[in-house]
Amino acid sequence: MLSLFSTYFVGMVVLALVLVDDTRAFAAGFEERIGPCPACHGETGQSETPEVPSLGAQPVNFLLIQIYMFREKLRQVEPMTAAAQGLSDEEPAAILCFHLQAAATESSR
Ligand code: HEC
Repeated sequence: MLSLFSTYFVGMVVLALVLVDDTRAFAAGFEERIGPCPACHGETGQSETPEVPSLGAQPVNFLLIQIYMFREKLRQVEPMTAAAQGLSDEEPAAILCFHLQAAATESSR
C-alpha cells in the first residue's frame, strides 16, 4: 500500500516538473521571436518606457485577451502582433503565468 502511494507521489512530482518545463518552453519560444518581456515591460511588471504598458497590475484575463487579439490581428501593435502569430490556444496563458510569476517574485524582493 505504501509503495503504491509513493509510486503515485513520484508520478505527480514528475508530472508537475514536466508541466513547469513546458511552460518555460512556451515562454522561451515567444521570447525568441520578440525578446525578453521585461526588457520592454519592466522587470517588476512596471514599465519604464512611455509607449509600453505595465503588465503587473492588470487583470490576467485582460492581458490574455490582448494576446489573442494580437494573434488574430484584431489589435495591431508591433512588435506584439508579429510575436503572437502562430501561438496555440494554450501558449498565451502559459507565457503570462510564467512572466507574471517572475515579476511577482522580482517585486517581492
Ligand atoms: C520590444 C518591446 C516589447 C517586448 C520585448 C514585449 N512587448 Fe508586449 N508590448 C509592447 C508594446 C509597445 C505594447 C503595446 C503598445 C500599444 O498598445 O500602444 C505591448 C503590449 C503588450 C500587452 C497588452 C497590454 C495592454 O495593456 O494592453 C501584453 C499582454 C504584452 N505586451 C505582453 C508581452 C509579453 C508576455 C512579452 C514577452 C513574451 C512582451 N509583451 C514583450 C512591447 C513589447
